[in-house]
Amino acid sequence: MENSHSTVQSVGENEQDYLSEVQRLNALYASKNGRCKKCFIDTYGCQMNEHDSEILLGLLVQMGYEKTDDLSKADLILLNTCCIREKAESKVLSHLGELRRLKNDNPELIIGVCGCMMQQVGMIEKIKTSAPHVQLLFGTHNLHKLPEFIYRLITNSEQQMEILPKETAIQEGLPTKREFPFKALVNIIYGCNNFCTYCIVPYVRGRERSRQINDIVEEVKNLVADGVVEITLLGQNVNSYGKDLKDGTNFALLLTKLCEIDGLKRIRYMTSHPKDLTEELIQTVARHPKICSHFHLPVQSGSSAILKAMNRGYTKEDYLLLVEKIRHYLPKAAITTDIIVGFPNETEEDFLETIDLVQKVQFDNAFSFIYSKRAGTPAARMQDDVSLEEKKERLQRLNDVLGDYAKAINETYVHQVIEILVEGVSKNNANMLSGKTASNKTVIFAGDAALVGQFVLVEITEAQTWILKGVLLEP
Ligand code: 5AD
Ligand code: SF4
Repeated sequence: MENSHSTVQSVGENEQDYLSEVQRLNALYASKNGRCKKCFIDTYGCQMNEHDSEILLGLLVQMGYEKTDDLSKADLILLNTCCIREKAESKVLSHLGELRRLKNDNPELIIGVCGCMMQQVGMIEKIKTSAPHVQLLFGTHNLHKLPEFIYRLITNSEQQMEILPKETAIQEGLPTKREFPFKALVNIIYGCNNFCTYCIVPYVRGRERSRQINDIVEEVKNLVADGVVEITLLGQNVNSYGKDLKDGTNFALLLTKLCEIDGLKRIRYMTSHPKDLTEELIQTVARHPKICSHFHLPVQSGSSAILKAMNRGYTKEDYLLLVEKIRHYLPKAAITTDIIVGFPNETEEDFLETIDLVQKVQFDNAFSFIYSKRAGTPAARMQDDVSLEEKKERLQRLNDVLGDYAKAINETYVHQVIEILVEGVSKNNANMLSGKTASNKTVIFAGDAALVGQFVLVEITEAQTWILKGVLLEP
């Protein structure tokens, strides 16, 4: 078993028995067939899902599976799904349709679907009817049970399984198989209590549950000992971290403790809810050079009326004040955001408020979306008199403005010498490297692949809307 980029720890006792059993059966298979069983995981959605997939892969590798990127060679296919917008959901459903042929060709193939989509009311039934070749359906709260599910499927004690428990206690110590040796995703809080009226996340990920601070610090120390130099702390709302622990722990304290870890160079986090971003936190970011001065601060809309209808808990003016506060302590901080256009009954005036806010803040980058109706959320019950045509047109206008500011900000980087963490080699050209600045900007430059995972200095020579180009400076 390959151990690189892995945090190998033990799972619970019961699960460990299932894991060992599957491992034994898979080893028998490998000696009989001259090859290991292979697994393929397809991940949709956000970084939380990416991290869940790293855990699923960690468990599968411990069970003796080998990762493959070739669907046709897989003995087990898992789709880790997202349901935040309808588009993500339809992608999964159409992919499932395509997998039917593979199952016909190889009846031994196990196809599983997990993640957020599975937690939606009625989805299991929908998949069972439209994709009967799927044998395994489980949700977001019981990844750690994967060894048991697979054991039951491969020993044929079950033909098809669906397992959807309610929120369970946080499972510590699950093995992970990270995508990168030098950077890692670390969950700090699960779920969300905010119930923004358009959003399905609180229904599928449950209420906020924070990990114990010592468990997080321990995990990060282990990661650093394993060669990790950058971590990204994950949560639907990292600023709520610690509230449910009721022992005075908060996000600023966690950050301060993590900064003390020798060898850890960069700390990122996402996502911050504007209503919970405190001055204490901004000061903490300003005080510690290890914490990247990048705030991903989803605004969603610039209209206070729409923000109220969204249940966001702040007005346009509150948000602008917050940005001012950030710029007071950190004038060079990068600020990025998420924006939804076409929320039910958004008027042209509301939309122009969003454009006005974008012009005032001048975001470094933004993810923009057309509102997508999610069954079961309060917004789905609102009447909507805005046509899709109009929503599409607003999105285009918004993107044009966002792009203009992103380019103008990128231009201020030209001629600067910046520290970059080299993340990888360009897909199209092996001599071109790509890396990230502390402000989370992607920089492309020529260099040797041996630099991947290292910090280098690059002089920026060209600014495009979403990327920078530069020249590597010799050390
Ligand atoms: N429609 C469109 N965008 C949505 N988001 C969340 N729910 C919806 C929805 N129903 C966006 C928000 C959030 C990001 C992760 O996804 O902007 O910040
Ligand atoms: Fe969804 Fe709002 Fe929670 Fe973000 S804060 S996950 S948008 S409910």
